[in-house]
Amino acid sequence: MQTIRSILAALFLFTVAGAQAETIAVIGTGSVGGALGPEFAAQGHTIVYGSRDPSRSDVAELVTRTVGGASATTQAEAVKDADIVVLAVPGLLVEEITKSLGDLSGKIIIDPTNPLKRSETGLEFGVDTSNGQIIQAAAPDAYVVKAFNTLNWKTMVDPEESGGPVSIPLVGDNAAAKATVAALVEGMGLEAIDLGGIENAHWVEGMLILWINNRYGSTRDSFDYHLRKVP
Ligand SMILES: NC(=O)c1ccc[n+]([C@@H]2O[C@H](COP(=O)([O-])OP(=O)(O)OC[C@H]3O[C@@H](n4cnc5c(N)ncnc54)[C@H](OP(=O)(O)O)[C@@H]3O)[C@@H](O)[C@H]2O)c1
Repeated sequence: MQTIRSILAALFLFTVAGAQAETIAVIGTGSVGGALGPEFAAQGHTIVYGSRDPSRSDVAELVTRTVGGASATTQAEAVKDADIVVLAVPGLLVEEITKSLGDLSGKIIIDPTNPLKRSETGLEFGVDTSNGQIIQAAAPDAYVVKAFNTLNWKTMVDPEESGGPVSIPLVGDNAAAKATVAALVEGMGLEAIDLGGIENAHWVEGMLILWINNRYGSTRDSFDYHLRKVP
């Protein structure tokens, strides 16, 4: 099913008028980077992974399973020629990592991160505002779009397993950047829903705290978000 969906997504990209292949830097090669990189590549985009150690064998394995001539390099080098930058990195490090990447002016930054902080009772919100706003302040001339933070990486690569439609809330201040990210979302078989400006990132990040508290709390209940616009 997953392979068929990837082929359909690639066909979709190459047949829709105006679809454009982008260079996408995926910063971080863990669960989320390893999910989104191959998915975006299957839609016809060129992926450059940015890793603290691009020579590692697991990074080489990720490059191999990413179609379309993917490569890996350092984090700062990966963003240089990228149109889109995915920050698939630890949630409490986004400010220092964003600043370490150099000039991100004019690029779209996809932010799937969550500012999760461990406490004695579980997890709490680890920043005052939101990671989306912190990243936008650290790269003021980039277009930050918060996306992919409210679901598990396994659902990103296999949304059919969820048993129904899955929403990806998008927040950000630039409409064109949100439209570009929405196309990537839809190409994965997920549903994009625009929830407004970057000031709403705090609440979208809170959705993940609610998700995780149910998934790993006393109820052990797992769910996926499906939101729909009122007609
Ligand atoms: N796991 C999920 O299902 C999921 C779903 C939605 C959102 N999220 C959010 O997405 C973000 C990434 O999650 P993840 O599960 O992919 O985490 P992860 O598996 O720990 O991967 C994070 C990657 O970031 C890089 N990294 C680690 N420490 C770093 C540092 N000090 N400086 C720069 N880069 C560093 C590493 O890549 P290199 O070793 O190659 O440098 C690492 O593999 C988190 O904020 C998380 O809350 C996770």
